[in-house]
Amino acid sequence: METPFLKSDLFLNEYNTVYEPSEDTFILIDALEIDLNLIRSLKPVICVEIGCGSGIVLTAVGKALSNDCHFFLGTDVNEKAAQLSQHCALGNGIHIFEAVVTDLLSAFDARLMHCVDLLIFNPPYVVTPNDEIEKSAISRSWAGGENGRVVIDRFINTVVPQITSETCLIYLVVIQENKPEEIIDAMRICGFYYSKIMLERKCKNERLKVIRFCRQKYD
Ligand SMILES: C[S@@+](CC[C@H](N)C(=O)[O-])C[C@H]1O[C@@H](n2cnc3c(N)ncnc32)[C@H](O)[C@@H]1O
Repeated sequence: METPFLKSDLFLNEYNTVYEPSEDTFILIDALEIDLNLIRSLKPVICVEIGCGSGIVLTAVGKALSNDCHFFLGTDVNEKAAQLSQHCALGNGIHIFEAVVTDLLSAFDARLMHCVDLLIFNPPYVVTPNDEIEKSAISRSWAGGENGRVVIDRFINTVVPQITSETCLIYLVVIQENKPEEIIDAMRICGFYYSKIMLERKCKNERLKVIRFCRQKYD
């Protein structure tokens, strides 16, 4: 999967509140690339990335799956991120996705009920005091509150049970401090019985993992 082009000086000026692609971004792209054939074989129609940030992940996915998947949606709480995501997509020749400013997927209410076939989230996962989360647009991109799980837990409890289709694949970035085994248990309760650590990488002080969740067993 090709890593989309995005000028890094964009993050110094107009888009300095947007999360700059980092190791967590790239491990997520690498994990999705490993699974491209599986994703294609499930014939996804709707693909959603929550917290699309710069848009680089969704653009990479959009490029790779443009012949297979029909609708790509990114969401972010940060308005600048939604703008930059559209810019990133268009700059890389992708005209097929929408970026919407909303908390998780709340703007869509029940409209995506059991419709999403591919769900991607690189959440704010760093362990911080809970009040760090709301401090600024940029702190919202990394501050995860207690155990780094405040946003992740809301995602699992409110988004996952509502919007996922029967064959949905979910790719979630976590670190060891998020207690991945508890996340795996919580996802089981939502019917996602199968989980696989697609990739694991130590980057500075973080042990990053990308976990794939699904209802059926795949390799
Ligand atoms: C770690 S960054 C990942 C950005 C991008 N996906 C990437 O991989 O480079 C997390 C992103 O989630 C967004 N975010 C944080 N809380 C959110 C929420 N409740 N709903 C939607 N987006 C959120 C942040 O603004 C940020 O863009």
